Amino acid sequence: MTTIASTPQFALTDDQREVRAMVREFADRRIAPHAAEWDRGHTFDRSLYAELAELGLMGVCVPVELGGAGMDFLSYVLAVEELSRADAGVGVTLAVHTSASTLPILHWGTEEQQAEWVPPLARGERIGAFALTESGSGSDAGAMRSTALEGDDGSFRISGTKQWITNGGHAGSFITFARSEPGTTDASGVSCFLVAGDAPGLSVGRVEEKMGLNSSNTVDMVYDGVAVTARDLLGDRAKGFRIAMQTLDGGRITIAAQALGIAQAAFDLAAAYAAERHTFGKAIGSHQGVAFKLADMSVEIEAARALTYRAAALKLAGQPHTVEGAQAKLFASGVARRVTGEAIQVLGGYGYSKEFPAERYYRDAKITEIYEGTSEIQRLVIARKLLGLDVR
Ligand code: CAA
Repeated sequence: MTTIASTPQFALTDDQREVRAMVREFADRRIAPHAAEWDRGHTFDRSLYAELAELGLMGVCVPVELGGAGMDFLSYVLAVEELSRADAGVGVTLAVHTSASTLPILHWGTEEQQAEWVPPLARGERIGAFALTESGSGSDAGAMRSTALEGDDGSFRISGTKQWITNGGHAGSFITFARSEPGTTDASGVSCFLVAGDAPGLSVGRVEEKMGLNSSNTVDMVYDGVAVTARDLLGDRAKGFRIAMQTLDGGRITIAAQALGIAQAAFDLAAAYAAERHTFGKAIGSHQGVAFKLADMSVEIEAARALTYRAAALKLAGQPHTVEGAQAKLFASGVARRVTGEAIQVLGGYGYSKEFPAERYYRDAKITEIYEGTSEIQRLVIARKLLGLDVR
């Protein structure tokens, strides 16, 4: 296991600082002023993603020759953190589009697949989605029931319903997992396919009504005999589950960054309020009860940031990061829940009111302990690797 002592240096480069400043300025100006209204209206603002594309963010760590901005993975993590500080729904939209939809094609796609699928994603003409989860297989992802039945001509027909699909209603391409090996019931029979959003037989089912992240889109996707050819197979046949797992190894780092952004927003709000609000003749931040709370919040956030950037630095350096990504997500998501709860406490009644964003931060934070693997699954991933045991 990598400890902090053996971690590559992750002081930000000038380029990374520039990306962070650019995204922060954009998020403060273009996103934060609308976040409450998008939350109330459950509004997915498609035009925003065209603007993010103009900034290079829809292809942030995609090579320039494939239409991307050619930035590195840590720059992308910083972008998700800053976007999530303004609106966590926007943060997850970019995170799923990039980590779970674009990067797998870059990693496992043939040159032909990369040339066909990556540029429209990198230029923001298409939004990407990742179709793994089903109603009966969330944590036990390998138990999926969707099938990819092989025809005589070597093509496949995908049938089944995928649930909790972030971006699904707006996506132009789906990384899709289905059981291609009849007779199997576990991870060993799963293949991964590239499916276009306009493929005949693919449709949006139920639109999920969520507790938070209302500016992001979450739907069921129905696959009714969707035809794909062997050319649309990503990676080797029956090796799709490994693609899902390795994709999530990286994706979890960006969910940690999303949690970090939410926690930072909640801290900033609480700290500003504590300086303004007076009780018993002084600012509430001058009372130890509030000051110590804010001090503890800052420590947790900084620790989560260190774990998150460490995991990103390992991935950037091409080193193993399964454990470190899971550690970062496990810790940062807990920090987001605790810090947003404490921010409400500092604001008191105003924290519970929709007049302030504290309650939105709290609602948005909770999902980071659930998606891209629950906190319990992160513990399982960490324990299995560290102990070398088949922990279940
Ligand atoms: N990297 C590469 N390969 C891996 C791997 C990894 N990190 N983890 C497992 N594998 C491989 C194993 O080596 C094994 O391969 P072989 O059979 O060839 O040896 C194969 O995958 C199966 O592994 P396991 O036996 O460990 O699989 P399992 O069925 O016990 O499941 C699990 C393991 C960790 C519990 C996994 O099911 C899991 O991660 N579950 C959570 C799913 C999840 O995170 N879903 C998120 C949905 S996407 C989302 O939320 C996006 C969004 O909208 C924000």
